[in-house]
Amino acid sequence: MGLFSRDLKSLDDLFLHGLKDIYYAENKIVKSLPKLIEAASDAELKKGLKQHLLETENQVRRLEQVFDKIGEKPRATRCPGIDGILAEGDDLLGQVDGRTATNAAIVASAQAVEHYEITRYGTLIAWAAELGKDDVIPLLERNLKEEKAADKKLTTVAETHVNRGVARKTRSAPKRRATSSSTTRRKVAKYAAKPRKRPAAQRRRAS
Ligand SMILES: [Fe+2]
Ligand SMILES: [Fe+2]
Repeated sequence: MGLFSRDLKSLDDLFLHGLKDIYYAENKIVKSLPKLIEAASDAELKKGLKQHLLETENQVRRLEQVFDKIGEKPRATRCPGIDGILAEGDDLLGQVDGRTATNAAIVASAQAVEHYEITRYGTLIAWAAELGKDDVIPLLERNLKEEKAADKKLTTVAETHVNRGVARKTRSAPKRRATSSSTTRRKVAKYAAKPRKRPAAQRRRAS
């Protein structure tokens, strides 16, 4: 299918195109997950990513079964969406500094991927149902279920410790600044403690 060709004319064509698209995406994710696993220092995050790599490899196999069931050879079509999401994740990882910030950036990038996959599988399942391709629906639903579970797990990891670790680090920085502001407060208190001279007119009225 060329860049400017208009050869997607039916829901069947769209379904096959979407299948090739997610097949491309899942294969790219299999290649990119090891980088995230290596970069993650949080034990639970690392474990979750490792588990999802195994799941993703199985998802590729399930997609091959879907191709087989609809009488097509497994073929990928370049997906600029996942390329962009993965490139953005790489870019973010290249900019973060420190273990805790890196873990939070990994969660953010991985969740962007999961959400992308969730939309693709949701659409494919709806199209398969409309087209009466009932035998492929359970395979696609299993993939969708795993993506949703991976997304949920990432949220839990982020909310229970990864984000807190980064927040603690960033909260400790203003403490150093507090030293200078408490110095300022001491200076203010020193000058405020001196009795202010009343203006001459007031002194005259008081006497
Ligand atoms: Fe996946
Ligand atoms: Fe996934």
